[in-house]
Amino acid sequence: MALNVNEGDLLPALLRALKQPATPPLVESAPCQEVVEKSVDLESMPILTHTRQDGGPYVTAGIVVSDDPETGRNVAFHRLQRLDTRRFTARLIENRGTHRIWSRTAEDVPIAICIGAPIQAQLAGAISPSPEVDELSIAHALAPLPVVRCISNDLCVPAETEIVLEGRITHQMIDEGPFIDLTGTFDIVRSQPIIEIDCITHRADPIYQALLPGGPEHKMLMGMPREPTIYAAVSEVCECRDVHITPGGASWLHAVVQISKQTPEDGRRAMEAAFRGHTSLKHVVVVDDDIDLRDAQAVEWAIATRFQADRDLAVMPDQPSSSLDPSATQVPGEKTRTAKMGLDATIPWDGPAGPLAPDDFEQVNYFEDSGQ
Ligand SMILES: Cc1cc2nc3c(=O)[nH]c(=O)nc-3n(C[C@H](O)[C@H](O)[C@H](O)COP(=O)(O)O)c2cc1C
Repeated sequence: MALNVNEGDLLPALLRALKQPATPPLVESAPCQEVVEKSVDLESMPILTHTRQDGGPYVTAGIVVSDDPETGRNVAFHRLQRLDTRRFTARLIENRGTHRIWSRTAEDVPIAICIGAPIQAQLAGAISPSPEVDELSIAHALAPLPVVRCISNDLCVPAETEIVLEGRITHQMIDEGPFIDLTGTFDIVRSQPIIEIDCITHRADPIYQALLPGGPEHKMLMGMPREPTIYAAVSEVCECRDVHITPGGASWLHAVVQISKQTPEDGRRAMEAAFRGHTSLKHVVVVDDDIDLRDAQAVEWAIATRFQADRDLAVMPDQPSSSLDPSATQVPGEKTRTAKMGLDATIPWDGPAGPLAPDDFEQVNYFEDSGQ
């Protein structure tokens, strides 16, 4: 609704914005700087503690803007654990944008944390394009997004943001966590960098946005931006019709890919491409275009009636994977590893006794088949 796009048109809208980013205009004054607080007190903000086990109060809806001297601006969500009146620690996933910048810089890394940023900026912050692509330009291609320069550093932030915390990621480390993750399980404690806040700017009467960790908003923001990247990868090898990241797979680890099968190999090719399009994907099911990929029962029906495990299953052991999966192998300092699985649940074209008839695999339509 915020982007003025129907649900079914969202994937094409995201694809268009990814293909044609547009530089956001710079404005001189902005709502997010109506009030400037140079004496910082993070304890005066309504930062929530969600469960007794949490490592502390957490900012959950903050997108972090930073600048890579080589590739330019980066924007990403990072959960932030409040340490005291002016410090946080944050989870920086290894080798993603913010971590890449921080790990290649000996000095503190200037950042701006935007809480209550416009929807298009939040969506873009959840996307992980190649490093030279500016997420705020993707956001501006989705819906207008003027930006303003920060007060204490040179970064630019969406002008309509509710609250901006300007600061630096230092190279001092501290334990971060435990905290609830996307899977609804507790993520482990890790040593992460300390962030110092130098200045807070906000609207005159700001709204503090919080996001329920592991809840539907978290899931939607994580999964939905991966659908276009899977779609683009699968489209390179066959005719992709649609992609759905399913909520049952924590909106991150499972996808259903719908194709219009043109050759016997398309199902397998689509499976392999889907893993390239979303490197954290763990399990993928490929279905034909008569299957409603958003209907879990219909997808299960396709597996039940079109899939043979000895022929249509691909298992890839010991793959680099998502750190969110508690059953994966996690070694501190190393990339998480998992087994991956793809199920080709498209109609098989050939059986042991020769070619098969596609009609045998189609669901009976009572109205058409009874001649009404
Ligand atoms: C609500 C939400 C919370 C997230 N929390 C974190 C986090 O704490 N740390 C992290 O590294 N990524 C987190 N992410 C994922 C990053 O935003 C995502 O990987 C981002 O696309 C990285 O982009 P980049 O590779 O361009 O930096 C979160 C995403 C969402 C939607």
